[in-house]
Amino acid sequence: MKTKHKIIFKNSQKMDEIDSSSVNLIVTSPPYPMIEMWDELFVSLNYRIGDSLNEYQAVEAYNLMHEELNKVWCEVDRVLVNGGIACINIGDATRKIGNNFQLHANHSKIIHCFEKLGYQVLPTIIWRKQSNKPNKFMGSGMLPPNAYVTLEHEYILIFRKKENRQFNDSQRNNRQESAYFWEERNFWFSDLWENVKGISQKLGIQNLRNRNGAYPFELAHRLINMYSVKNDTILDPFVGTGTTTIASMANCRNSIAYEIDENFKDLIASNIAKNKEFMNKIIRDRLNNHLSFVEKREKEKGKLKHKSNIYGFSVMTSQEKNLTLNKIDKIVKNNNLDEFKVEYEDVNKIEVKKQKTEKQVTLV
Ligand SMILES: C[S@@+](CC[C@H](N)C(=O)[O-])C[C@H]1O[C@@H](n2cnc3c(N)ncnc32)[C@H](O)[C@@H]1O
Repeated sequence: MKTKHKIIFKNSQKMDEIDSSSVNLIVTSPPYPMIEMWDELFVSLNYRIGDSLNEYQAVEAYNLMHEELNKVWCEVDRVLVNGGIACINIGDATRKIGNNFQLHANHSKIIHCFEKLGYQVLPTIIWRKQSNKPNKFMGSGMLPPNAYVTLEHEYILIFRKKENRQFNDSQRNNRQESAYFWEERNFWFSDLWENVKGISQKLGIQNLRNRNGAYPFELAHRLINMYSVKNDTILDPFVGTGTTTIASMANCRNSIAYEIDENFKDLIASNIAKNKEFMNKIIRDRLNNHLSFVEKREKEKGKLKHKSNIYGFSVMTSQEKNLTLNKIDKIVKNNNLDEFKVEYEDVNKIEVKKQKTEKQVTLV
């Protein structure tokens, strides 16, 4: 098995490189309107945003920033297949401009845009950001009523284009191989994700913004497994450090990504190269976690009814019998560092043995 990954360094408001109706899943996180670190970028897309901010016209600036994002959502609509899913990670913003402190509910603006595009809005996931800022509280301190609640969560908005995706006979095997474990389903398909591990926001590379707004690998990893099958094409129109590309590689999906800032090129290539071991650790962890689950479950409730056709271990349901996880063998990059080809190992090379004391590997 092989997959292909392309990174295009340009503005995703026009994605001419992608055919209409050719992408199966979008996993992305745009720059957040009204969060100061993204002001400069929005002003570079429309100078009137700078005027509005300077004139303390917060709501006008907020609306104009969303107009820029909406251009990307229209392109997303063009390239997504019917039945395809768009998952958008977004946080709201609180900001004081002049004497006016207020919430800018970014998530509601994006929902509104996709409703207008005719999408089905699916249940939203809220995930808790790990925050260790000591001075996170704002406003009048211990004196009522002008203190403000801190935003410690973000949204994953999920939209479907038109009708449910259908699979014909030749696609059914691939869909079954792409299944997730029953116990993963129970955890992932909850509307509240606690403790999604973050990755370092600090980049040690010059010419890049100090903070890059990367989302946790786990977030992209889960969404890709939940809403696509192997060999699908995943698009991230705001790829930043390349998290969606890495999660697509780890899960045997093809990917296309856009990034407006070419300074990210070396960082993305080095993130991909550095994280091959991390990607394979994900596979081992999923298998090991499943073995632990089965051991506990069978001790408590007796032998499970179903066996995996691939690994021979027990599984909860017949839907998991052909679930197959492929480790990465090789990642080959082109000279321009914007195309990567991934080759995967044969499944029978994976050792399915419980390893209790394995060293922790995290995305670096
Ligand atoms: C919130 S960050 C995404 C972080 C990413 N999810 C990660 O894990 O690294 C948004 C990224 O989108 C890029 N960007 C903003 N507007 C863009 C546009 N119109 N086209 C392409 N990239 C854009 C920014 O430079 C930034 O790197």
